[in-house]
Order: sequence, then C-alpha cells, then structure tokens
Amino acid sequence: MKVAVLGAAGGIGQALSLLLKNGLPAGSELSLYDVAPVVPGVAVDLSHIPTAVKVAGFGADDLDAALAGADIVLIPAGMPRKPGMDRADLFNVNAGIIKTLAEGIVRNCPKALVGVITNPVNGTVPIVAEVFKKAGTYEASRVFGVTTLDVIRSEAFIAELKGVDVSEVKVPVIGGHSGTTILPLLSQVEGVSFTDEEVAALTPRIQNAGTEVVNAKAGGGSATLSMGAAAARFCFSLVKGLQGQDVVDYAYVAVENGDAPYFAHPVRLGKNGVEEILSYGELSAFEQKAKEDMLATLNKDIQEGVDFMS
Ligand code: NAD
Ligand code: LMR
Repeated sequence: MKVAVLGAAGGIGQALSLLLKNGLPAGSELSLYDVAPVVPGVAVDLSHIPTAVKVAGFGADDLDAALAGADIVLIPAGMPRKPGMDRADLFNVNAGIIKTLAEGIVRNCPKALVGVITNPVNGTVPIVAEVFKKAGTYEASRVFGVTTLDVIRSEAFIAELKGVDVSEVKVPVIGGHSGTTILPLLSQVEGVSFTDEEVAALTPRIQNAGTEVVNAKAGGGSATLSMGAAAARFCFSLVKGLQGQDVVDYAYVAVENGDAPYFAHPVRLGKNGVEEILSYGELSAFEQKAKEDMLATLNKDIQEGVDFMS
C-alpha cells in the first residue's frame, strides 16, 4: 500500500503523517510531498519511529516521484482560515493548488483513491473531478471529500452532552463541509434522544465547530490535530476497502440524481473506492427543512469549482 500526503509539512499534514506512520499496514510506503523546504526533515523525523512503514520526503520539484504508483492520495495542501473568514474565502488561493496536484495524480497514479481535505471542500472536490474528466481518467468512485471531522466532532459533542461512552456513539453527517451545508442527523443517533431545544443548539454547534477552533487559535490557523485524526481514520477505512474488507464510512462524493451533484453520504467502500452509495434514511422535519435550506449554498459552492475548470 502506498499512501501519498500532499501538503505533508503543514499542521494537518504532519499530524496525519504521524498517525499513518503508526497505523498503516506493515510494508506500506508513506510518501510526503510539500512545497515547504522542511518536508525532507519531516520524513527523516518520522522515519525514526520503529514501525514497518517506509517514509520518504519529496520537495517542490518532486511531485511526480511522490505520486508514482500511489494507491491512496490525501490532500491537505493549501491555506487555512483566519478569524473572520469563511471557507469560501479560501477558494481563490486553494483552487489553483488543487488543480496542479490533481494534474500530478493524472500523470502518476490515475487509479489512486483521492481524499480531498483542502478547503473549501464543497468546491475543491469538483475541481479534482473536472481535472480528471478533462484527462479522461475520471472515475467518480475514486474521489472523496473528507468530511470525517464533522463525524468525529459530532461523536465527541454528543458523548460529552449525554455522558455516554464515546466509542458507542455513531452519528450520520450528510451534505457538504461548510456552515449550514454540514447536516448531522441527530434523529438517527442510536441509544440517545434529544429534545427539540438540544437539536436546535447542537446542530449549529457541530456546523460551526471549525470556526470555534479558528477563533480559539486566534490567527494561528484552523483545526489540525483533530483533522489529522479524522483524515487518518478515513484513510484506514479506504485501506480496509482496498484490502477487500466490508466497510461503510461517510464522505462527500459525486451522486447521480441526488440532492446535489456532490453530497456526503454513507458509502460502502471496496477495491475501487465507493462500491455503493447508501441511503441516508429518513430525516426528521427539522433535518428535512435544514437540508432544503442549504441546497442553494451547496450547489453554488459546487458550481464555483466546476466553473474554475471550464
Ligand atoms: P497549513 O498552512 O498548516 O499547511 C498547509 C501546507 O500546504 C503547508 O505546509 C504548505 O507548504 C502546503 N502547500 C501549499 N501549497 C502547496 C502545494 N502547491 N503543494 C503542496 N503543498 C502545498 O494548513 P493546515 O492547517 O494543514 O490546513 C490545510 C488545508 O486543510 C486548509 O485549506 C484548511 O482549510 C483545510 N482543512 C480542512 C478540513 C476538513 O475538514 N476537510 C479541516 C481542517 C482544515
Ligand atoms: C474545520 O471544519 O475545522 C475545517 O474545515 C477548517 C475550517 O476552516 O474551519
């Protein structure tokens, strides 16, 4: 298994790479790429951890070598938010970065499973898809927006609120990855129930959790450690799928005849990435309205990504 992390010297990249060094199957290769000159040092540092995962670092001019033969590519490259910014404000800077990296994937590992972390995810995932379509290598089943952070935050907040074992809490989160487009389905959480007031307070807390971190870091960036944990968890799901295990996880994927052209769903993973897009089930009246209200924003974000490539 070869996993490439693009943007590996950043806040997310380093946390994620540490978790992958410790958690990928023995014999895997971890390929770290970044334009920051520190990346070879990050690779040397990680290589001193005694696990059977080989690490190599690649600088600005070595994207092709970093990607050659990768099975999974995770992309946390690009600028994070500062207080007062929306994720959409990152589009102008990050769109070009994502396009360049996606073109590298076309050249070097067109069959890789690609997990996009770079914001705004609602729009960067369509950019990757459009690059692959232009090159004739697009397979919708292989491109993912990583929304796992919304899932793990929901788990953490609910366990805290209800005083239950966090390892038992499972929360479906659908939609996109920004503000109201993040839709946790609290009506479907097994083993706990919520009052209307709790739903009305917890839903926006989950939707604004990224901003909570951005404000707490006060100009020092956005979530990196929890995102590293989230991306590692998602990567391990992709790995299990590639190994032929039956695994279901949540991700922002292309959906035909769905709520929007891209929408986070539960997906069954396998050797080709998404084997099946699963239904997210019945929504409460609150969730149904929240979904209808956010679709215009999500569709606009998606169109911005598509238009960038047209
Ligand atoms: P960071 O600034 O700490 O790291 C970004 C890294 O990307 C840097 O090391 C930088 O050198 C590198 N980079 C920039 N241009 C590059 C290029 N062309 N090729 C390769 N590497 C390049 O930022 P961070 O906190 O790690 O966040 C990275 C991105 O992830 C941001 O866009 C942020 O908004 C996003 N993010 C997404 C989620 C999510 O849930 N999907 C969560 C948190 C952050
Ligand atoms: C998050 O949800 O923490 C990330 O998308 C980063 C951000 O800008 O909020």
